[in-house]
Formats: sequence, structure tokens, C-alpha cells
Amino acid sequence: MMGIRMAIKELWNALQFICSVEFWRMSVFWTLSLLFSYCRLLLAPKSKSYPRCPPATPINNKPVCIITGATSGLGKAAAYALSKEGFCVVLVGRSSDLLLKTVLEITSSNKDAQLKAFQVDISSFQSILNFNRSLQQWLSDTKMHSSVQLLINNAGILATSYRLTAEGYDQMMATNYIGAFCLAKLLLPLLINSPVPSRIVNVTSFTHRSVFNMQVDKETVTGKSFLRRKQYPCARIYEYSKLCLLLFSYELHHQLRLMEKPHQVSVIATDPGAVETNIMREVPSCLSHVAFMVLKILGLLQSPEKGISSIIDAALAPPDKSGVYFFGGKGRTLNSSVLSHNAELAQELWTTSCDLFLQSQLVVEPIST
Ligand SMILES: NC(=O)c1ccc[n+]([C@@H]2O[C@H](COP(=O)([O-])OP(=O)(O)OC[C@H]3O[C@@H](n4cnc5c(N)ncnc54)[C@H](OP(=O)(O)O)[C@@H]3O)[C@@H](O)[C@H]2O)c1
Repeated sequence: MMGIRMAIKELWNALQFICSVEFWRMSVFWTLSLLFSYCRLLLAPKSKSYPRCPPATPINNKPVCIITGATSGLGKAAAYALSKEGFCVVLVGRSSDLLLKTVLEITSSNKDAQLKAFQVDISSFQSILNFNRSLQQWLSDTKMHSSVQLLINNAGILATSYRLTAEGYDQMMATNYIGAFCLAKLLLPLLINSPVPSRIVNVTSFTHRSVFNMQVDKETVTGKSFLRRKQYPCARIYEYSKLCLLLFSYELHHQLRLMEKPHQVSVIATDPGAVETNIMREVPSCLSHVAFMVLKILGLLQSPEKGISSIIDAALAPPDKSGVYFFGGKGRTLNSSVLSHNAELAQELWTTSCDLFLQSQLVVEPIST
């Protein structure tokens, strides 16, 4: 009886979702965006693909790589692959059980893997701040050099309902963009302190191509302005968050190049394409199965092990590669959308994001008078 009730509820949810604008936006715009990216890849002049570089190693240390959202899909597969490349991999995830499971899974396939897990909720500034402190403590306790060589901002969600974080932000914006921005900002001193070239890799998505105009004021970046709509615009917010991540990647690349003291921190955006992971967990399961089936028939769906190739390309690119967008594996890069290269918009977003960062800092660590 319970089973039948559950099935009816699932079917009802699926029907409601099919009747929404968001479903059609995902089905049509996202498929077109993905096809557009592959067409551009095919039409692009054959660029010289480069061999991936082994990670540069600080003396007496393994290079340290931090991966957020390392307990599932692309993050988990990338953590395994980078442990094989000789990185000491710091796994960041929101569930301690899943972190433990992931550590056991990776070590069972790679006995030499050097791993460390931290429970962090990327959508919470307080949690990111605690992580920064614990990470520095761990580096000092283990007598490792006080630096990080690679940060992969991979954690992401496709939420289908509006949820607020403790800071009052939309959960999807907080996870996919604001958290990544705050983490990069807090960890930047450790990346700059690296004695060998270091890197930030931001995992974005082809869906950013579905955004044709955008606001980057506080109300929009925190997701509050999307609230005014009758229905939660899940597809729009997801695309928007990924475009924010791209604008941020290019702006940070630009700003690091302007810094007085020369250092080698590169910033790369990467897009895995369509990959069969748990990203659609909030979409009614019958619909996500159909979506994956259609993508498979079109030859556009990859396994997480294949899908990570553009992430690993970005992680192991030559140190001079920065401010680029990897797509399609085999070391290939592509132009992201015209809007993502709008320098004025990027600067405006930077200012808004820094304001939000400061605001969160003041709430969490009020200045004592
Ligand atoms: N799959 C695709 O087709 C595709 C395409 C383009 C881009 N991407 C991007 O690739 C990235 C990885 O996604 P995926 O496809 O591998 O999906 P996934 O299997 O759902 O993995 C997402 C990971 O993010 C973690 N996460 C979510 N919210 C978090 C939070 N608040 N704090 C810390 N960790 C959090 C999840 O943790 P739990 O394990 O605890 O849930 C999970 O480990 C995302 O940024 C996604 O947008 C995916």
C-alpha cells in the first residue's frame, strides 16, 4: 500500500515538474547549450593538445589538493584520479559518513593514497571559516609547508525548491557560487604561499550559455530576487550560479595578474559536459532516468570517470595556463559565452561578492569595541 502511495506521489511530482517552465528550459535550452559547445569544439581549429604536467612538488611535501563535494560523482572520481597523480587529497564534504565511505573506497583501490577529510558545509560561511582554521592547524600539526597547491571548487547542487541558508541566502546560490567565492578568498594566502605554481579550478557548466542577460546586485547574487517568482526557478538559478563562477574565474585571473608581487596562482574554469552523477537527485527520479537515457542515446552522456577529464586537464595544465575554459577533455579549451567575458559585469560581481564576504565576516566575527 505504502509502495503504491509513494509511486503515485512520485508520478504526481513528475507531472507537476513536466508542466513547469523550468523543465522545458532544462530540456530545450540545456540540450542546445551542450550541443552548441560540442559544435564549437568540432569547428574550432585543431589546437595543439598538451601533455598533462605532473604536479609540482614542494620540497619534503606532497602537493596538497583540496576538492569540495568529494563524496559523490565528479568530485569523488577526481579525488581518486588526483591521489593517483601523487597529490595529498583533502576531501571536503558535508556528511562525515560519506567522507569516511569515500576515504575507504579510494584507499581500497589506491593503497598509497594520502587523504584527509574535512566535514564542511560549503553553503555556510561559518563552516568555511572553521575549515580554513582546521586546515591550517592540520598543515602545521603534520609539519607540512603552510601552503596549498590546488583548490577545486566542485561542490554543487541543482535544487528544485527554495531553501534558505543560515545567512538567509538561497541554498543553490550559496553552494554553487558564494561558497566557492568565499573559500577561494580565504584560501588564497595559502595558494600564494606555495613555493611551486598553484591553481584554483572552478567547475562550471555548459548551462551558463542559457543566460543572456544578468544582474549582479546583492539581491540577485544571494538568490533573493528569484524568490519573487511564483515558482522556484531552479534551472535559471543553476545557470546563473555557473555563469557567476565563470565571471569570477576570469576576474580573479585578471586581478592576480595585476598584483605587484609576482607569484604563480592560475585560475581555470572547467566544464565536464553531461555526466551521470547524483546532480539530478532532487528532480523526480523517473524524469532524471529519462533525461540520462536521452543524453545516452544522443551520445552526450559520460560516466564520472570519463567526465572528469576536463577537470583533470585543468588541474594538471601547464602553470602558464590561466583564465581559460576547459571543455571536452584531451586538454581542449573553448570560448565560454560572450556574457561570461563581460569585464564590467565581472568587476561588478566581484564588488558584490566582496561585500557579501565582508558582511558574513562581520556577522560571524563581530569587531569587538
Ligand atoms: N553532472 C553533470 O552533468 C554536470 C555538468 C556540468 C557541471 N557539473 C558540476 O559538477 C559539480 C559536481 O557535481 P556532480 O555532477 O558530481 O554531482 P553530485 O554527484 O551530486 O556531487 C555533488 C557533490 O557536492 C556536494 N555538496 C552539495 N552541497 C554541498 C554543501 N553544501 N557542502 C559541501 N558539499 C556539498 C555533494 O555532497 P553529498 O555527497 O553530501 O550530497 C556531492 O559530493 C557540480 O558543481 C555540478 O554543478 C555537473
